[in-house]
Amino acid sequence: MKILLLGKNGQVGWELQRSLAPLGELVALDRHSSEADGGCGDLSQLDALRQTVLALRPDVIVNAAAHTAVDKAESETELARTLNALAPGVLAEAAHSVGALLVHYSTDYVFNGSGTTPWLETNATGPLSVYGQTKLDGERAIQASGCRHLIFRTSWVYAARGGNFAKTMLRLASDRERLTVIDDQFGAPTGADLIADVTAHAIRQAQQDPGCYGIYHLAAAGETSWNGYARYVIDTARALKPELALAVQEVAPVPTSAFPTPATRPLNSRLNTTHLRQTFGLVLPDWQHGVRRMLSEIL
Ligand SMILES: NC(=O)c1ccc[n+]([C@@H]2O[C@H](COP(=O)([O-])OP(=O)(O)OC[C@H]3O[C@@H](n4cnc5c(N)ncnc54)[C@H](OP(=O)(O)O)[C@@H]3O)[C@@H](O)[C@H]2O)c1
Repeated sequence: MKILLLGKNGQVGWELQRSLAPLGELVALDRHSSEADGGCGDLSQLDALRQTVLALRPDVIVNAAAHTAVDKAESETELARTLNALAPGVLAEAAHSVGALLVHYSTDYVFNGSGTTPWLETNATGPLSVYGQTKLDGERAIQASGCRHLIFRTSWVYAARGGNFAKTMLRLASDRERLTVIDDQFGAPTGADLIADVTAHAIRQAQQDPGCYGIYHLAAAGETSWNGYARYVIDTARALKPELALAVQEVAPVPTSAFPTPATRPLNSRLNTTHLRQTFGLVLPDWQHGVRRMLSEIL
């Protein structure tokens, strides 16, 4: 099996390099890749992207690249649209031409965040931001292409590599006695390693079972707020490494309105993952499991 991976150095892309490697021949590209690496991996170069797929003729394309800067997307609308909506459409059409399976990632930000019930795949979408709208348009372009596809909507992604919310909280907690963290947005922090492992399982199953194509919600089990996430990170860091001597005494809850941002975030980012767990026979661990593991790795 030949797999083309795009966005190889992002949080999810990096973990996919590990999890996809045992499945077959892996051609992993990023935006700077050239012919010598296997082709163009720049999502803004739509013709070159199409040519890369047509020339490589992969069995599976995994697209982990995206415009993920949610606030910047509000002012970089065209770039966000190209990377999040047009490029997935081009990949899907090329995948259809060569008979490849396309695996793509989307987001809880396609929903409007109302209510408290975890979102089902079948619920009506209603993005609140340019990022959410362009990601939704990307999903639709893939669905309209007729290619075989797996789209995983995920939430609150973190990884040991690169910057993340937990690292920011630990940095602030080391020299401030009081932090204020939003407590009215709810979701599940989800490790890039979990997403990558589930992706590899799903690709294997899709080879045997053509009935499993479609859109799935993929997030760690349980739920928390950003405030609960921050408190868990600080408490766990203290337990794992007491010598850190974190200064923080209080993680005060504040509403989203306390931190105005260019992009509006959904308050309810809970994703119902029943469809994924039942279709692929998988168990999704509690969010604390992955966060604790990531902290053990970075501390
Ligand atoms: N992060 C989250 O909380 C979250 C939540 C829900 C869904 N998702 C979705 O999950 C997927 C993976 O996200 P992630 O967290 O791994 O994001 P990430 O760490 O920001 O990775 C995105 C990657 O896309 C690359 N990229 C940007 N512009 C590109 C271009 N023109 N051509 C090729 N590559 C380009 C980036 O490269 P550079 O590093 O060179 O910029 C980066 O490596 C995305 O589809 C995202 O929408 C993420």
